[in-house]
Amino acid sequence: MTPVRGKFITLEGVDGAGKSTHLDWIAERLRTRGRDLLVTREPGGTPLGESLRKLLLSEPMHIETETLLMFAARREHLSRVIRPALDQGCWVLSDRFTDATYAYQGGGRGLPFDRIAVLERWVHGDLQPDLTLYFDLSVDAARKRLSTSQSHPDRFEQEGADFFERVRSAYRARAAAEPERIAVIDADRSLDDVKKELEVIISSIC
Ligand code: TMP
Repeated sequence: MTPVRGKFITLEGVDGAGKSTHLDWIAERLRTRGRDLLVTREPGGTPLGESLRKLLLSEPMHIETETLLMFAARREHLSRVIRPALDQGCWVLSDRFTDATYAYQGGGRGLPFDRIAVLERWVHGDLQPDLTLYFDLSVDAARKRLSTSQSHPDRFEQEGADFFERVRSAYRARAAAEPERIAVIDADRSLDDVKKELEVIISSIC
């Protein structure tokens, strides 16, 4: 018998919004509910993807190169990790996916969204996340959290407040356009309050 396809869940937010803080807890809750789960991240998730991640987070490059490398890593991630896992009935929890390209390369860097849409259709048009948890936090608060947690900011984390305002606006616009897929989590609350909301969302999908 063919296994029931697993669900694909992604986490998104500006750097410092706290999604990584909640990742392990979300994974633990899904596993407790009996889901076979694979946890992964972008850019990365494969040996080649992790090598591309190192370049993307450190080397200055043209915005189109940056976007193409994000999708090159994603192509590899989809064919070697995400699709095979979903096809076997495993659930996949990815720390970032294509919404991040729309937010960072589109919103942040100003690459036209229709260019990103072409690559999205090419690389994974028929596969979209079943659920995206978008952690929303003001840029000021996110930058304060980042400055206390990061001693060596990467190429994206070094960007200024204006960049992150554009990233946040792009995320919020996507969430408003796709409310059935993207759940907006107000991250400006205590960890316990955020967990309570996450628990409700998780119980609604499994
Ligand atoms: P992380 O800090 O959440 O691990 O993500 C690494 C950085 O990569 C983060 O600053 C956002 C950036 N990024 C993009 O700019 N575009 C993308 O498509 C992805 C997946 C990440």
